[in-house]
Amino acid sequence: MSEPRERLRIAVQKSGRLSESSIDLLAKCGLKFRTSRDKLFCYGESLPIDLLLVRDDDIPGLIDQGVCELGIVGRNVAREYRAGSEPSSVTWNEVCDLGFGPCRLSIAIPNEEEFTGAQQLAGKRIATSYPNLLREYLLKQGVEASVVVLNGAVEIAPKLGTAEYICDLVSSGSTLQANQLKEVAVMLQSEAILIGTRQEFVDARGPLLDTLLRRLEGILRVRESKLLMFKSARQLLPSLLRHLPDAELPQLSRIDGADDALGVQVVCHQAITWPLLEELKRMGASQILVLPVEKMLA
Ligand code: PRP
Ligand code: ZN
Repeated sequence: MSEPRERLRIAVQKSGRLSESSIDLLAKCGLKFRTSRDKLFCYGESLPIDLLLVRDDDIPGLIDQGVCELGIVGRNVAREYRAGSEPSSVTWNEVCDLGFGPCRLSIAIPNEEEFTGAQQLAGKRIATSYPNLLREYLLKQGVEASVVVLNGAVEIAPKLGTAEYICDLVSSGSTLQANQLKEVAVMLQSEAILIGTRQEFVDARGPLLDTLLRRLEGILRVRESKLLMFKSARQLLPSLLRHLPDAELPQLSRIDGADDALGVQVVCHQAITWPLLEELKRMGASQILVLPVEKMLA
């Protein structure tokens, strides 16, 4: 372990699929950064939390080396690293899902081939940048195949003749399509996640980490959330509230000059659709408003 630091460091991908959304999310947590000239280190100005911009595959290792405490990576990267490490050398946990960068780690084969099941992989060469996860998968399927490790351009291996099949990340599917390959088995569902050193390593910076996690939680929680406001007769309220998706307890207010009517304010944590609004109206709600929720500290 390196010397204890007073500041926290978060590693994020320097350039790639997750970079922009990672930095956006931290900005929403109120973190402001001054970028260094080499653009590898960003000094936190609003809180003592700095950013390290690195290759995504390096992030889990940087935490284990004590270079940073937190990282934003794809679940695929975290799981591949863990699958290739001694359990006792891994010092971090998966803290939470971040709700962006969805993709799958999948097996793909040439378009013109039929796929009849995992047994078909037996004896084949499969190109991948995820050798540890692929080996685990093959073992679980009880299939022996040879794993060809490539660090990039995995999708052209079948055309080059260096492998029959591939195992790679699929997001939109356009890379596979461009290479006349089709996805036949999903090994892992992935998205961006936060990983972090286990609490005992965090020492005096614990409260700072807490603040950050609480802000993150607030942002993730309100991503789909809306403040719903409407008026309703008192006796209709219970059945109206039952219709609301993942709702908090409502705030009720009396309306001047209308004895029986109440004003209702309620935060809902799932999408409020037009059909739902129409249903509420049919059931007797009026003057329905849906407002975005920007921040929430519960
Ligand atoms: C992945 C994968 C494919 C591409 C698939 O790479 O290796 O090339 O994305 O996306 P698509 O289905 O939308 O075409 P990624 O951008 O994650 O880069 P990296 O593996 O080098 O980190
Ligand atoms: Zn990468």
